[in-house]
Amino acid sequence: MDISTKITRSIHDAFTAVFAVELPEQILSLQPTRKEFEGTFTFVVFPFLKYTKKSPEQSGQEIGNYLKENLEEVATFNVVKGFLNISLTDHYWLVEFKAMTSSENPFALPQTKVKVMVEYSSPNTNKPLHLGHLRNNFLGFSLSEILKANGHHVVKSNLVNDRGIHICKSMVAYQEFGKGESPESSGIKGDHLVGKYYVIFDAAYKAEVKVLMEKGVEEEKAKKEAPLMCKAQEMLVLWEKGDPETVSLWKTMNNWVYEGFDATYKRMGVDFDQMYYESDTYLLGKDMVEEGLQKGVFYKKENGSVWADLSDKGLDEKLVLRSDGTSVYITQDMGTADLKYRDHKNDKSIYVVGNEQDYHFDVLFKILEKLERPYAKGLHHLSYGMVDLPSGKMKSREGTVVDADDLMAEMVETARRHTQELGKIDGFSEQEAEALYEILALGALKYFLLKVDPKKRMLFNPEESIEFQGNTGPFIQYTHARIRAILRKAEQIELDFNNPSLLNKVAELQETEKNLIVLLLDYPQKLKTAGSEYSPSLIAQYMFELAKEYNRFYAEIPIFSEAKEQHRAFRVALSAQVAQTIKAGMKLLGIEVPEKM
Ligand code: ARG
Repeated sequence: MDISTKITRSIHDAFTAVFAVELPEQILSLQPTRKEFEGTFTFVVFPFLKYTKKSPEQSGQEIGNYLKENLEEVATFNVVKGFLNISLTDHYWLVEFKAMTSSENPFALPQTKVKVMVEYSSPNTNKPLHLGHLRNNFLGFSLSEILKANGHHVVKSNLVNDRGIHICKSMVAYQEFGKGESPESSGIKGDHLVGKYYVIFDAAYKAEVKVLMEKGVEEEKAKKEAPLMCKAQEMLVLWEKGDPETVSLWKTMNNWVYEGFDATYKRMGVDFDQMYYESDTYLLGKDMVEEGLQKGVFYKKENGSVWADLSDKGLDEKLVLRSDGTSVYITQDMGTADLKYRDHKNDKSIYVVGNEQDYHFDVLFKILEKLERPYAKGLHHLSYGMVDLPSGKMKSREGTVVDADDLMAEMVETARRHTQELGKIDGFSEQEAEALYEILALGALKYFLLKVDPKKRMLFNPEESIEFQGNTGPFIQYTHARIRAILRKAEQIELDFNNPSLLNKVAELQETEKNLIVLLLDYPQKLKTAGSEYSPSLIAQYMFELAKEYNRFYAEIPIFSEAKEQHRAFRVALSAQVAQTIKAGMKLLGIEVPEKM
């Protein structure tokens, strides 16, 4: 039984013994004691005054007395207004600490049978990844790690949009203006090269439209009839027919993009277990349209188009098949949902996709529910907001959005400058220093993007993210490195900090030592909540709390200059446990921690 259950049970008994009232245990709960008061757990007395029939202070006092007499773990208590703040004995915390350090895997919860698919990244192949993708990829990867640590079986998937008019635009522009350029010949990374032609298409197309309009053609007509747009449309038709030349160019250009994406993913530190390509899935879902018509979930309009009426679910009507029989985005997603389930029998299926698609997923999930899919209840859209940069910062070479590769490279430069200024790499080989910049840069970036609630639109501030102080990745990374240095020193002076008989001699704790143990013990619960709420930001927040408390401990309490050997040993052991927890937690965020800096 965990300690808070034990305490609430005892509070229950107190009500029976002291106030002669039998209360259901579920209504008695504890909360963490607020920082400004002494104690670890707080019981709020106010809601129960009708049973105690005494003042809040008196009620708290009497329950506190009962606990102190009946629970050996309770050391002291204090009552502030109607808040009963409970402190446990140092002995209790020390026993818990020992149990934790000897546990086989304190950083993962027991295996469950739950299968979860996490789809993330899902880029289009007409241009490189951008800043928004960074948030997407970090969220998806981190969530997957968190769910794995919760004992679930996780499949990370990526649905690549590799076909359609957008990629045809890059292809047409390449045909027209490319002169056989390739990543090899130009030295341009494959995805950037294809992106370049997408931009060229756009510029040339706009020029064509302008010329047509100057000749008096109306805007809408000009946009439709501009020769380049016609060519892109024709190319799409050719592609769908399987025209060998078109398919061959398409393959070549997509492969350039994949080579580029692979490099970007590698630097980001993300990966996938299952790739899906829209060129394989875009025709899926049509049979579901038929099924929906038969089940009366969809209806046909006079022109032959098929619609879902979701007005009973608070939404409006949604097209699922065009009058010419071609399908739309959502049709494909219906089919892909079935495909995912067929492939992996997932109990839960999470889509990490930006909030501009909230409506799309709302509709998709409602349709799948109406079609009585067995997996419908487990669908979840992990929606996230836009990421902005402070104005004036780094525009991508294409102009509008910030390129992911450029941003990562820029972060590494910032890390280099910053680290050198602070002299944190004295005694590093060049290789070690380069590795450190990379770890810090990516850590700063990931932490900054993950510490924020995904729903919120956010401003990414590169300079702030890389600070060694404050709520940043590098601050936590630095804390880890600092502890590793302590552990190296302990080894050097042959301090036997794992020796149980030495640790057993420790009888009392300093405030901040106790705070650290309390925090460390909270890790599994944090992991659980982060898993059930799909929230990496909870782990990030916890990492910060732990690092902050550790730095307080480090500032207030001597380690090696402490007189008693058992205290030296205990403080090093406590530090080691903090370092391991930081390492495990940061790993869930996809962030590496350095051994030294
Ligand atoms: N490729 C799409 C885009 O960039 C996102 C796909 C999201 N996933 C899905 N199953 N619809 O907008």
